[in-house]
Amino acid sequence: MGYKEQMKIAVYPGSFDPITQGHVSIINGGLVAFDKVIVGVLSNPKKTALFSAEERMDMIREVFIDEDRVEVDAFEGLLVNFVRHKGSRVILRGLRAVADFEYELQMANMNRKLSEDIETIFIMANDAYFYVASGLVKEVAKLGGDISSLVPNVVHQRLLAKLSTR
Ligand code: PNS
Repeated sequence: MGYKEQMKIAVYPGSFDPITQGHVSIINGGLVAFDKVIVGVLSNPKKTALFSAEERMDMIREVFIDEDRVEVDAFEGLLVNFVRHKGSRVILRGLRAVADFEYELQMANMNRKLSEDIETIFIMANDAYFYVASGLVKEVAKLGGDISSLVPNVVHQRLLAKLSTR
């Protein structure tokens, strides 16, 4: 590919513990704007994760098994280094309600400070999922609530299996 036809690659980073329908809608939105979306799974999140990085990656790969423009990889350390390593200059993030804004603004500015040539681009979450967050989904599932419409089927099954062994 020549300079002008270079593939547009975005990196969509997150904890994905586990991936929700909200995340899925952001990835699908990313595929409209970019040739390829690389989902970057933070392998050592500050908060202790319910699923291991491998489990989180497996679930995302299964959801996008028929979409070869989605790649899934783990990263640790600085996000901007991972983005550059993947040959991208775009960080993709989703915005739900106003509450996300401050955290996202802080991260986007920090990443710009670290790396001026990397741009953060936001996609608005589908309004059907604007209240869906991995933490809430886990809490509701633990308490026996129905989360089947909030997460992909593979995640629903794995969540029930994981919680039944705890
Ligand atoms: O799903 P999350 O928890 O909102 O994702 C947060 C994530 C993974 C995007 C953020 O914690 C991150 O980029 N971590 C990597 C460390 C880093 O680069 N920190 C400086 C930028 S704020």
